[in-house]
Amino acid sequence: MALPQVEGQVRARPFLKWAGGKAQLLAHLQPFFPTTYRRYIEPFLGGGAVFFHLQPAEALLSDSNESLVEVFRVVQRQVSHLIEALDRHQPHAADRAYYYELRAADPSDMSEVERAARFIFLNKTCYNGLYRVNRKGRFNVPFGRYKYPPLVYNLENLRATAAVVAGATLLVADFAETMDQARKGDLIYLDPPYDPLSPTANFTGYTATSFGRGEQERLMQAFKAATERGALVILNNSDTEFIRSLYRDFAMVLAPVAGLRRAINSNPAKRNGVTELVITNFATGFSQRPAGR
Ligand SMILES: C[S@@+](CC[C@H](N)C(=O)[O-])C[C@H]1O[C@@H](n2cnc3c(N)ncnc32)[C@H](O)[C@@H]1O
Repeated sequence: MALPQVEGQVRARPFLKWAGGKAQLLAHLQPFFPTTYRRYIEPFLGGGAVFFHLQPAEALLSDSNESLVEVFRVVQRQVSHLIEALDRHQPHAADRAYYYELRAADPSDMSEVERAARFIFLNKTCYNGLYRVNRKGRFNVPFGRYKYPPLVYNLENLRATAAVVAGATLLVADFAETMDQARKGDLIYLDPPYDPLSPTANFTGYTATSFGRGEQERLMQAFKAATERGALVILNNSDTEFIRSLYRDFAMVLAPVAGLRRAINSNPAKRNGVTELVITNFATGFSQRPAGR
């Protein structure tokens, strides 16, 4: 199922910082992944933490963020040129003026390699690795505060990443379009923008459009349609009444969020902060109804 590891090569891991990155939750997600499946499909790619964890032999990866997908494509097809461009940026990783100048530069005037290098540089040096754009679609996150100049990229990792994504299909697409391509035996992993725990917790910084309840409902419809076609589907989301009721016909368990207390708090308000839902359309050893609602 997984790609064979090339001897002497590091195991590729995410090369971007991405909000909602699943790296910390992976240990808890691992038992949910089936050992055999046909094609791996990840329609909310982001930094791709789960893809890098599984390293499937056949993958369809997509995201609605066009700039993000372009970066993956450049890594896939032009990694050496990308490395040269990143090497020109690296000496300026602690330079505030350089950051703002590069942020202000118009990416449409650049080659795709230059655009990808700019994206990676800004991602590593901006505040918290956030991705946020203004109404005109221009990246507007401020310069980050780092004790040491951030490493913009890791050479071995970027080369290993190019090898891991070599055979993957990369698309700029809405999740529904990607999920439509799923067939019997495929595995779809869904990590959408989460349903906010409170109205004020609404985080909509990923793209120019927000992901509201209408989008969560549309996702549930796509989840059902893929289920009817025989695909295996795993979804993460926040533990809210709304998400529980949307997926009431499916198996769901609570997964503790790494770094926080494991115990499920008896007070639902507190519990919300420490657990998330993992919803599957197939039986896992863990499938049960979560207690408390
Ligand atoms: C929570 S992040 C995924 C994080 C990822 N699992 C990781 O490990 O970094 C959600 C992603 O969904 C993308 N997204 C938002 N709305 C979308 C849509 N309608 N269709 C496809 N992707 C979308 C965002 O661009 C963002 O990259």
